[in-house]
Amino acid sequence: MTKFRPFPEAHEHGDIEMLFPDIHFVTGSAVMAGRLPMRFSRNMTILRQNDELTLINTVRLSEDGLNELDKLGTVAHVIRLAGFHGMDDPFYQNRYGAKVWSVDAPYLPGFSEGSEPYLEPDVVLDETTTLPLDGARLLLFKSAKPNEGLLLLEREGGIIVSGDCLQNWARTDRYFSLPAKIMMPLLGFIKPHNIGPGWRKVAKPDATEIKANLDVEFAHVLPAHGAPVIGNAKDRYAPAIAGL
Ligand SMILES: [Fe+2]
Repeated sequence: MTKFRPFPEAHEHGDIEMLFPDIHFVTGSAVMAGRLPMRFSRNMTILRQNDELTLINTVRLSEDGLNELDKLGTVAHVIRLAGFHGMDDPFYQNRYGAKVWSVDAPYLPGFSEGSEPYLEPDVVLDETTTLPLDGARLLLFKSAKPNEGLLLLEREGGIIVSGDCLQNWARTDRYFSLPAKIMMPLLGFIKPHNIGPGWRKVAKPDATEIKANLDVEFAHVLPAHGAPVIGNAKDRYAPAIAGL
């Protein structure tokens, strides 16, 4: 059973930028509730195949942003790679009738066990899933609870789209609230070419599995947090991977 909850509001976001042919990227934000609500940036990657769009790490856009998105094509799919993301997936499912593909991780409000999920995905991703994208491969972290994944696009020398695993916040940006500007560097989040510290701590992925999944060729990383890494990505992440 799922329990409907109102769609979270759209927050301030930037322009949709083209990074590669048929690959676009936009930065918005999220608020983590708590005694000191922390607001920080997060990114959505938009893939186009023919006229169909696949949204990864969804971020709800403003009406103006949605108009720009609509100019790129028709939203057909949503892929959830990160068990700690997904709050805006129901919005896109509802607005466009998008098919929702998710790693094996329930959509729980506040990620609290025992609460009723607010969405059931159409497809739970596993090793046998045929993705709605040509030349794309899933790398799953089955040891992480909730599950997590990376999407490897086999073009341009290898492009990895990541959820919370690979991050690249070299510095805080304009979407960070003051508490987040102070706390997130202390918590180890503000480092270039980083393996998500919060994800490691809470989802407890196995280091061997991370190393095995990243033992593929890739040149670029489009993370859910931080700037895109364009070029030499495997070398740039090598110290963080070796340090696991
Ligand atoms: Fe995240």
